[in-house]
Amino acid sequence: MTRPLLETVDLKKHYGGTRKLLQRPKPLVKAVDGIDLQLAPGEVLGLVGESGCGKSTLARTLLGLERETEGTITFDGQDVGGRGASAAREIRSDIQYVHQDPGAALDPWWRIGDTLHETLKIHGVTDKAERDARIEEMLLAVGLNDSFRRRYPHELSGGQQRRVGLARTLSLRPRLVILDEPTSGLDLSVQATVLKLMLELRAQYDLTYLFISHDLSVVERLCDRVAIMYLGRIVEIGAAEQVFSKPAHPYTQALLASAPTLERQEAGKPIEGDPPSPTNRPEGCPFHPRCPMAEAACRQVVPDLADLAAAHRVACPPALRTLTPQ
Ligand SMILES: Nc1ncnc2c1ncn2[C@@H]1O[C@H](COP(=O)(O)OP(=O)(O)O)[C@@H](O)[C@H]1O
Ligand SMILES: [Mg+2]
Repeated sequence: MTRPLLETVDLKKHYGGTRKLLQRPKPLVKAVDGIDLQLAPGEVLGLVGESGCGKSTLARTLLGLERETEGTITFDGQDVGGRGASAAREIRSDIQYVHQDPGAALDPWWRIGDTLHETLKIHGVTDKAERDARIEEMLLAVGLNDSFRRRYPHELSGGQQRRVGLARTLSLRPRLVILDEPTSGLDLSVQATVLKLMLELRAQYDLTYLFISHDLSVVERLCDRVAIMYLGRIVEIGAAEQVFSKPAHPYTQALLASAPTLERQEAGKPIEGDPPSPTNRPEGCPFHPRCPMAEAACRQVVPDLADLAAAHRVACPPALRTLTPQ
């Protein structure tokens, strides 16, 4: 890989666990628990996992909205974690977020144009002409004409709200965009056009995407690589084509078997066992209580990612043993 645009090493974000004066102790939640991730410039990396596995926490930590508990975050060669919030803010403005529900992120009493101006003002674009130019450019880029400036959020369809959300994010000229479930709640046809637009914008503006989704068919269609997350850790990562055609981790296999994919439209067999509980994490491999391949060692040792093939890594010793040629 060329120098990664974003790199995390052993990144952790834990909540609770400490008792503050006059407060009841909160349970320790290891929402993100040791993530090593590299994003190459220009790629689309999909991040997939069941609800509660820590996807949004990872996103917020990368954005600097949460302070990491441990580990490092490097953006374009510069350490952006562990520093004072203001020191990292400038670099961090290169990383932007597309909200899961852009309708909720828009002020219902404000015209779209005012919201877009305000966003740019907050980010230090003081020149009004410059803001006007950027807003005009971005609305056009997302396929909305200039009249949308004068509209209110409730006058927009779900798809149009997503476009405004994209315009708002891209007006800040980010280099890395984190999209958290960006098409959830949209009709399939609208979803398809919004996804197509996202890919076009990526090429046009030289963007790198971290694409968070629980929808495997969307990830398969859109992403170059995919990372599968389970209880705060990445359990498998590789080229989307590799992971979808030869899933190695038992969790990835179960996830693929349970969800509609490009080939199979309808949902399949649900994953067996109880959904993971972050406050009651099992010892050893977090997936072992639901895993058909679990061995004694899986109950004791948290497995690290290891190479299965070129650029395909899996955190499952039994799977690696079975799949690697002797
Ligand atoms: N501010 C917080 N305080 C305590 N626990 C949190 C907080 N934010 C998230 N969590 C917990 O961290 C875990 C991961 O949550 P989240 O990152 O939202 O998962 P996902 O986006 O994959 O659904 C969940 O158990 C959630 O309840
Ligand atoms: Mg989430």
